[in-house]
This record gives sequence, structure tokens and C-alpha cells, in this order.
Amino acid sequence: MIPNSIIEDIRYRCDIEDVISSYVSLKRAGSNVKGLCPFHSEKTPSFVVYKDTQSFYCFGCGAGGDVISFIMRQENLDYVSAVEFLAKRAGIALPEFDSHTGYNDGPGRARILQMNVEAAKYFRSMLFDENTGAPARQYLKGKRALESSVVKHFGLGYAPLGWNNLRDHLRSLGFTYDEMVAANLCSKGEKSCYDFFRGRVMFPIIDVSGNIVAFGGRVLDDSKPKYLNSAETAAFRKNKNLFALNFARNSSEDTMIICEGYMDVIALHAAGFTNAVATLGTAITSEHARIIKRYVSKAVLAYDGDEAGRKAADRAIRLLGEAGVDSRILVMRDAKDPDEFIKKFGREAFRKLIDESRSRFDYIIETVLKKYNLENADDKIKAAGELCAEIASVYSKVERDIYIQKTATALAIDPKSVKHDVDRLIGRNASYEKKRQTEELIRVTSGISDRVNPDYAKSPKAGRLEEEILGILMLHPEYVSIKIDDGVLCEDDFFTGLGRRLFAFIKAKMELDGFSIGMLSEEFSNDEVSRAVSMQTARRDLSNDTDAYKTYSLSLRNETSKKSDMSLEDVILKKRQTK
Ligand code: CTP
Ligand code: MN
Repeated sequence: MIPNSIIEDIRYRCDIEDVISSYVSLKRAGSNVKGLCPFHSEKTPSFVVYKDTQSFYCFGCGAGGDVISFIMRQENLDYVSAVEFLAKRAGIALPEFDSHTGYNDGPGRARILQMNVEAAKYFRSMLFDENTGAPARQYLKGKRALESSVVKHFGLGYAPLGWNNLRDHLRSLGFTYDEMVAANLCSKGEKSCYDFFRGRVMFPIIDVSGNIVAFGGRVLDDSKPKYLNSAETAAFRKNKNLFALNFARNSSEDTMIICEGYMDVIALHAAGFTNAVATLGTAITSEHARIIKRYVSKAVLAYDGDEAGRKAADRAIRLLGEAGVDSRILVMRDAKDPDEFIKKFGREAFRKLIDESRSRFDYIIETVLKKYNLENADDKIKAAGELCAEIASVYSKVERDIYIQKTATALAIDPKSVKHDVDRLIGRNASYEKKRQTEELIRVTSGISDRVNPDYAKSPKAGRLEEEILGILMLHPEYVSIKIDDGVLCEDDFFTGLGRRLFAFIKAKMELDGFSIGMLSEEFSNDEVSRAVSMQTARRDLSNDTDAYKTYSLSLRNETSKKSDMSLEDVILKKRQTK
């Protein structure tokens, strides 16, 4: 089994649109992109790629999946080979695979930490070596404008060009090649091994106990990949570490600034914002959120201003919110990230941005208000319409009421009218949803029924509830541990065979170290994966509240307990009789 962290890495670094567009010509359609499906022949595009959930779905043939299942189908590879294919493309090191024992853990944590200390010392000495380190010192001082005190504070270093520098140094200290490979400081070669980081500025990742658990390395020019990061080892779990948390935890602020890059954090600390941290080349996880909650109850998200940054911020707000951290969005103008912003405008300007940061909904209100001229009646109606649509997509009534109030105040209209419009929109969404479900039901129960999940027809009601629940779970797998009345949902609550298997799989993965749809291909057929993704796709535009999950789960439990023993033949027979 390939560790989850690697799957997550691949999904994060191999952007699905990027990968697919090297096979399919994609055109923008709203917030998604569309093209001709590579898996069946068609003349009008029905193959959609969703950037936010990093998945694809063909409305023509029903093929769907994530970037890994795409490569499996497209390149005709098995799961492990598809992962290797993508890892290579992204420059991600895979742990050593042994066909008998699987992925092997190698030397223990203590030994790796020891090796990392030696490596960090070596990188630092190379950075300050008069000749070898010159280009890197030049880069840090010239291009990045870093004082040498900052460079020393963060323990930065330089991995020189060449294939064996660190390897030979560690060898002379008594470490074996196997150990170097296990620590991810070296990659396995034909006979021995070679340095993993070459010609890069090195950023040691230090945990809260002061251990050097991993490294990140940046090239000095524009070559790719721009950053290389240690893969997970016995000493390093990505989901449990944040860059510079070792410093930020000592800050007296009750807020943490969360950004995307190493250099952003360093620039912020250098400017006096010592409460800044960054995730390590991955999106924020619920585990990160829980760690942050240990230190602070508020966060400011200083993500890049592009589309990807906004999506990442949305995800972060949700996960942080679930962990009890209240977050606000910091909006930068005329700079792509905090590092660039501080260089251009200075620390006071950045402090001002922190003070001006807003909650997500306030931010949306602000954007809408800026777009329209409220003196003009038409404009005002449009602004109200946009805000009502936003509110209608929120599942929680309490939250909706707060937003309704805010909208009414901002637009100077009666809250009752706002509420009326919101309710009407919710009603319309619901009837649309009902129509969709009826169509689905007809599709599934007619003809020779459902090949992928034959049990569906025996109880379409349970089947539909299952698809709702599984769809939500695939977007928010952490919900699997939510209590629905007296206990969490379990396998026996599911009625169909496919539903049970999918649920059991998600649950098992979450108990281990996390789930992502990419893993489904480990155990499910391509058709089953497609079906699973269609469930997720159907749920994607609805809100992400836990209440919906609970409601569906209770109904499913109820439905399954009345489980009918009808065979499929009985169902078809009954259907014929009623015609
Ligand atoms: N990252 C990564 N691998 C890449 C690109 C990025 O791991 N190939 C991670 C790094 O942790 C990086 C962060 O994503 O710090 C943000 O990436 P990006 O915004 O592309 O770079 P910057 O932080 O702006 O890098 P720089 O300012 O050094 O160009
Ligand atoms: Mn940058």
C-alpha cells in the first residue's frame, strides 16, 4: 500500500487540469473546464474537469475519478504504476518498495533525526563556504533580500551541485546508504545512491521539540521543480508539521498567520510577524487545524490572491472552523504573496492588511458592494440577488440568519425581504434536486437495472440516501467520525453492497491516515470509481454542513432497518404490474 501522504502530495502537485490538458484539449465552462471525453467517442464535449475537488466526470459515459484514475485509464496502468508515473512527473520521491514486505519503514526515527542534524550542519557549512556557497548567498541576499541574521535564525543552508557530496559526507560519519535513502536525503541509484537535493537553498523543517524532521529545497533559478520536499519518513509526517511553528508557538498573539510558502513565512518573521506558519507543500488538513487550535483561536489566511489561493483559503476556513479556529481572509493587492507584498510596501502596510482582514461572508459582501452602485435600483437588485444566492447555499439556519441580517444592513433593505428571497431560492434548489433524483431513479430502475450496484433497485430510497452520504463523505471524509444519534454511522447501516464496501473503505482509511478519492482505485473497479465520483459530483454544489450528513444518516439507518428482502426479480415484477 502506498502511504496516504504520497497520494495527497501527488494530488496536490499534479493539478488535474494540467495533467488532463496534456491529453485532452479543454475549454473553460464557468468555473470548470470541459472537453471531448477521451474514453468514448463524442462530438459535443461532456467531459468536465473540476478544479476544486480535483476530479473529472463524463456526463456522456459516466467515467470519472481523480488524477490517478485518469492516468490509469488513459495510460492503461495499474494503480501503483499510475502513482509512480505521476510521482515522476512531479519530482516526488517514492519510498523504497519491496515486493515482499511492501513499503519499508527503514531505520528508526532517532537515527533519521541524527542524520538530519548532520545534513543541516553540512548544508549550512556549504552555504557559508567561500566558493561553494557564493551563488546561494548571492541569491538569498540579492534576490530575496534576506539579512544574514535571518538566514541563521532559520538555519538555512545550501546543497551544492553534484551527485555525491552529502552522501560521501554522511558515509564518512558512519551512516549507510540504506539509511540515507530511508531519510530521503538520498535517492536509490543502480549500485549505491545519490544526493536528493542538488544545487538548492535548503530550509530545515523543525518540529516543536526542536528536531529537524525534514527539508525543503529551492532552486536558485527558474528551473523545475521549484521546490523539492522530503517525502514522509519515520521521523516526518506532513500533516502534523507546519513550517516555523517552532517559532510561532512562542508568539504572544492569539492569532496565527497562515501562508502558502516557506519564503512568505521567512519574510513575515523578518518583518516582525513571528506568528506566521506555512503548510509544507500540501494543502491544509484537519490535523493541521487541530494543531493550530492548540495554540490560538484565531487565524489570518494570507494565501496567494489567485484562484488556487482562494480555493485553498475556502478549504482552510472550513477545516479551521471545524477545529474551532475563527479565520479571516487577508486580501493583497498588487502583490502575489506576502513575501512580495512586504518587499514592495513594507511591514506597516502588511499590518494594515491584517487589521482589514474579513470573515468569508464579509469579504463576499464587500466584493459585491464594490461591484455595484447602490444608488441605482437595478444595481441594488443585482447585488441583493448575488448575496441571496450565496446565503441560500449555506445549510445552517443560524448562519443564514446572521448573513440575512448583514445583507439587509449593508443594502439598507428590510431583512424580511432578504429572507423571503433566500427561502424562495432554497425552495427552488430543493425542487430541482427532487427532479434530478426522480430522473436518476427512473434511469436506475428501468431497463436491465444497474450493473455497478445491482442492489440499488431493491431499495431506491436507501440507495439514494447512501449516495448522498457517500457523496458528502468523499468531500469531507472526516465526517465519518461524527455521532449521528447514539453512535457513528457503521457499515451495517448501509443497504447496498457497493455502499457498504465504499463506506468500509473510507472508514478504514480514515482510521489509518486519511482518505482521498484517488485511493479508491486500490480496491474498486474503474466503473465503481466512476460511480463513486458521480456521487461526489452530484453533491459538490450543495453546502458542506454536518447537519445534512446527520439527517441523511438517520434516515438511512431507519430505512435499512426496515430492509426489504425482495429480490431484484420481485422488484421488476412489481414494477411491471403497476404499469
Ligand atoms: N511548493 C512545493 N513544490 C513546488 C512548488 C511549491 O512544495 N513545486 C510549495 C512550497 O512549500 C512553496 C509553496 O508551495 O513554498 C508555495 O509555492 P509558490 O507559491 O509556487 O512559491 P513561492 O512560495 O511564492 O516561492 P518563491 O517565492 O520562492 O518563488
Ligand atoms: Mn513567493
